[in-house]
Amino acid sequence: MFAFQRCVNPDCGGTFGIDEVLHRCPHCGSLLDVDYEWDKLAVPKSLAYFERYWAERSNPWRFSGVWRFHELLPFAPLEKCATVGEGQTILQRNDAVASFVGKDSGSLFLQYEGLNPSGSFKDNGMAAGATHGRLVGAKQAACASTGNTSASLALYCGVTKLMKSVVFVGSGKIAYGKLSQALDYGARTIQIRGDFDDAMARVQEVSRKMGIYLLNSLNPFRLEGQKTIMFRVLEALRWEVPDWIVVPGGNLGNSSSFGKAFIELKKLGLIDRVPRLAVINAAGADSLDRLYNGEGLRWNGGRVDHAKIDAFYAQMDAENRRADTIASAIEINRPVNLTKCLRALDFCNGVVRKVTDQEIIDAKAQIGANGFGCEPASAASVAGAKKLVEEGVVGRDERVVCILTGYQLKDPNATVAYHGDDQKFFGDYLGVHGIKTARYANAPVVVDNDIDKILDVLRDA
Ligand code: F0G
Repeated sequence: MFAFQRCVNPDCGGTFGIDEVLHRCPHCGSLLDVDYEWDKLAVPKSLAYFERYWAERSNPWRFSGVWRFHELLPFAPLEKCATVGEGQTILQRNDAVASFVGKDSGSLFLQYEGLNPSGSFKDNGMAAGATHGRLVGAKQAACASTGNTSASLALYCGVTKLMKSVVFVGSGKIAYGKLSQALDYGARTIQIRGDFDDAMARVQEVSRKMGIYLLNSLNPFRLEGQKTIMFRVLEALRWEVPDWIVVPGGNLGNSSSFGKAFIELKKLGLIDRVPRLAVINAAGADSLDRLYNGEGLRWNGGRVDHAKIDAFYAQMDAENRRADTIASAIEINRPVNLTKCLRALDFCNGVVRKVTDQEIIDAKAQIGANGFGCEPASAASVAGAKKLVEEGVVGRDERVVCILTGYQLKDPNATVAYHGDDQKFFGDYLGVHGIKTARYANAPVVVDNDIDKILDVLRDA
């Protein structure tokens, strides 16, 4: 295998075997990449090469939307790769959502990652991460999660029986759809009295102390799998590169992996231009926005100003500022992949924006009304695209792909609270998130069990 791990810090550049289980560079503490000796590998000459696999769908690795691009993430022999049928996702042009965003017909596309087996994009990464776990002989895997990573890990472990799973979630900080998945798929579920940032810190400690394999996006193999979301976007556009990719930003694994995908595709001569990247924070979990736009933090050739980041977090702690947003999936204030995301923003001439919970929940209702149910965090991408069009940063006619990261039923409470606003059941669920109006609400009508009254309601409509 011509794969290895490499420290992202150019002043260190440490390299390590893929059989080593490392979460950070043992020399300098920076994040690690999976890298390849591409010149020793059989790399396709064009992306159209991958079309040959469309006719081989009875082969589970060619069916997989991750492993049918194996040549672009070749760290394990194909027959050793874990798959549960991930990546059967679609890119759909959506003119109604384009109109909501202020864009021309035909210029806005939604990449619907909610169609994955566990209902979120995480399965792309988990297929790759579980594969590496198997390679190194791990018996138990762990993650901290706002819900989707835990659901995905639990599913992969449940189906493949490769490892046992233990998941750490913030108590009361996880949408029920996701919690129910972790429980149902049989993960040992630890609810920490704290939030995601607390759980993330603890899981690293636990996995170090107990030798449990860590499957958060800190794990560079996870991000290899997530590159394939971009390969499928290109595939659906018949290998044409769009103008923009817009993605919600939480722990910043997706944005980091998208950047790596484009860096590699360009280096390998498989694309001739690179899309711009927009990473969208929720206003209540906006560390990236504050650091990137407020503090001017940049990749800087890999020499990231860590003193600036440390000072930012120290200030955050001094003010006791905790992440708080209705988009619970991205309720994260200490994104572990920050430096890799800066690299992606640098390579893809990126921008960062934040959107309020009101903007998120309205965008979500518009996405739903036009046939694509998603969870609140996913809608941040569409709300962010709208903002960028209003600012004139994204042109009305530019081709934009918004990533819908998770399925609608992940967080039914947010949806029903918006449409039904049932205060008895939800309390002031919207109000506590500063959501004042439900402009696109489609409220259920309560009616007595009486045929005439039911007919009256329907005649009124
Ligand atoms: N959208 C959804 C639905 C997510 O679940 C997440 C992350 C993100 C967006 C943000 O992606 O972290 O790559 O920037 N969820 C993680 C979890 C943190 O634990 O499930 P990111």
